Amino acid sequence: MPREAFVNGRYVPHNQGAVHIEDRGYQFADGVYEVVTIFDGALIDEGPHLDRLERSLKALCMDMPMSRPAIKLVARELIRRNGVTNGIIYMQVTRGVAPRDHKFPNDARPALVMTTRQTKPQSAKLLAEGAKVISVPDIRWTRCDIKSISLLPNILAKQEAAEAGAYEAWQVDREGMVTEGSSTNAWIVTGDGKVVTRAASNAILSGITRRTLIKLIQAEGYELEERAFSLEEAKVAREAFITSSSSYVLPVTQIDDATVGNGHPGLLSGKLRQHYSDYMASAGDPI
Ligand code: PDD
Repeated sequence: MPREAFVNGRYVPHNQGAVHIEDRGYQFADGVYEVVTIFDGALIDEGPHLDRLERSLKALCMDMPMSRPAIKLVARELIRRNGVTNGIIYMQVTRGVAPRDHKFPNDARPALVMTTRQTKPQSAKLLAEGAKVISVPDIRWTRCDIKSISLLPNILAKQEAAEAGAYEAWQVDREGMVTEGSSTNAWIVTGDGKVVTRAASNAILSGITRRTLIKLIQAEGYELEERAFSLEEAKVAREAFITSSSSYVLPVTQIDDATVGNGHPGLLSGKLRQHYSDYMASAGDPI
């Protein structure tokens, strides 16, 4: 089945999808994006993802490029055309095409692109061994709550992780506190069993997986603290894990040279992963 993309109102063969060289996304990273999980053919937390898209756009003084029902319709049609059962849908909105000039153009039309990707399940080895993360200084701006396509610091951090044989890089602020991963939220479990993740603020992207997991943690009656934790605290934590729309809940067993807990994926992390999997299996909006 030839893969298709949705580009500015049209379904086109994926390898022919193109935008203009003066699209402001290309020239200025003047745009935002979302990644929504497709699990067993269903979109997971589509509503909250669209809420966040609208919020990110608002921060850029932009409106949604199409009505919500229209976006939902296109997303479903693209998933259907591409026959995706498990993977992701990527949505990107930029301010559109205009002669290069920093200030907003008067008449540019927002550009909307959607692509899908079928993904393989996470490797059994990764799940059995847990992920390794390295720490890097957080060199980003002060609006990390906006899901901006301007991702250079995140890319550099992820590349550094890859070169170190690690899955993710945890970014650390000037106070020595972990903000988040390059494309995931960061969590630890303390010695007395409390689940800790940084509170939502301009310092992190408020993850949709994070949001759902917080609800599941509360429903299951586990203790939760939304607060900053230091890299030092993380290294001596009982457990650690990360969350995102593409990693779900993934245990972390090594941070830099420190082994987390006994070096195996933590018990509570495993339970939370299972709760999240059950949630995905039951809570998706059927397509
Ligand atoms: N990344 N923090 C950052 C910096 C992210 O880029 C992401 C998502 C998250 C987790 O958010 P969510 O649970 O809503 O996926 C946290 C996506 C998956 C990406 O860039 O591919």
